[in-house]
Amino acid sequence: MNILITGTTSGIGLTTALHLIARGHRVVGAGRHPETIPREELKRRVLADHTRYRLADGGRKATPIGSCLPPPLQDLDGLLAKLHIVVMDMSEVQAVKKGVEDALALLDGRIDVLHSNAGMGIFGAVEEVDEDLLRRQFEANVFGPQRLLHQILPLMRAQRSGKILFTSSIGGLFGIPFQSHYSASKSALERIAEGLAIEVRPFGIQVAVIEPGDINTAFNRTTAEAVTDLRKAAGSADLTQLLEAFPLPTASPYWKQAGNTWNYIIRTLPLKPSPSTVARLVVRLVEAKHLHGFRYTAGEWSQRILPFARRLLPDKVAESVISAIYELNKR
Ligand SMILES: NC(=O)c1ccc[n+]([C@@H]2O[C@H](COP(=O)([O-])OP(=O)(O)OC[C@H]3O[C@@H](n4cnc5c(N)ncnc54)[C@H](OP(=O)(O)O)[C@@H]3O)[C@@H](O)[C@H]2O)c1
Repeated sequence: MNILITGTTSGIGLTTALHLIARGHRVVGAGRHPETIPREELKRRVLADHTRYRLADGGRKATPIGSCLPPPLQDLDGLLAKLHIVVMDMSEVQAVKKGVEDALALLDGRIDVLHSNAGMGIFGAVEEVDEDLLRRQFEANVFGPQRLLHQILPLMRAQRSGKILFTSSIGGLFGIPFQSHYSASKSALERIAEGLAIEVRPFGIQVAVIEPGDINTAFNRTTAEAVTDLRKAAGSADLTQLLEAFPLPTASPYWKQAGNTWNYIIRTLPLKPSPSTVARLVVRLVEAKHLHGFRYTAGEWSQRILPFARRLLPDKVAESVISAIYELNKR
């Protein structure tokens, strides 16, 4: 299969691309500045995302306790050598057009699968998130994927076949405190995907959304970089810098509860499953002749049941459960 994946400079997109290459697929990735990221750095990122950690130093340090790199990724250098990453800034129409043209040139004019995966999350109280940040959130997670669809759909309609997979999040199915706009952007993406699936079925195009729970990637680091002036400096296992990058001012009325939530998400992400958990699902969806479902979850079972629990539980009970999970009221 010929596959285009966005967000392949890091995390879920990068690992998924390598799993697909290992299965013999032709994969082109995309990122904003791939030319600035040496292969050695891509390799370091994959290895970091496939390291098992335990927390030390009162939860300020993630200490490596082993690797969980699965067998298909053992020849990392060989797989990375086969990965082409085109330049594609999803926030510019022309850049997306050019990126898709470059991908098509590498894939002999045919794309069987689009995995629209690039995305990021912001952090902040609804009352305090400014418009600029809100726009950046929706630019990355909603407008970017839509720009991509403008380029890819005419091609897939002409082919009369294709699959489009979107990386959403379990957070798209309920509001996460202090990440409400991230949840809203993934909800919007899912509603678009739901309608799209029906619109394009007559053209032989299949659509699905992937809803990961928490996955051990650089996601929190990207969040911290979006909401503070933190820049890629710290080693990934040292959580101190990320914990200290908590973006709310002490004068904020939300300081305590948001601080608890921030500590929780920074300390727990390194303990979560590796991106290979999502990649294996993507491989299955890519290789299936027909997609029998539309929504596919990945990650820890305790998180995968959250969207169902949210629907089943009375609203006030669900609110209390979510507050407890995100440690809002911890002393
Ligand atoms: N990790 C999790 O716990 C988790 C859970 C549920 C869903 N997700 C979703 O999974 C997807 C991948 O996230 P990840 O965990 O792999 O995080 P990551 O390691 O930070 O990777 C994010 C990727 O998206 C790209 N990206 C971010 N903003 C972009 C933009 N505005 N334009 C173009 N590319 C952009 C980045 O590329 P650049 O090099 O261009 O920055 C990078 O390749 C996202 O959609 C995220 O919302 C993650």
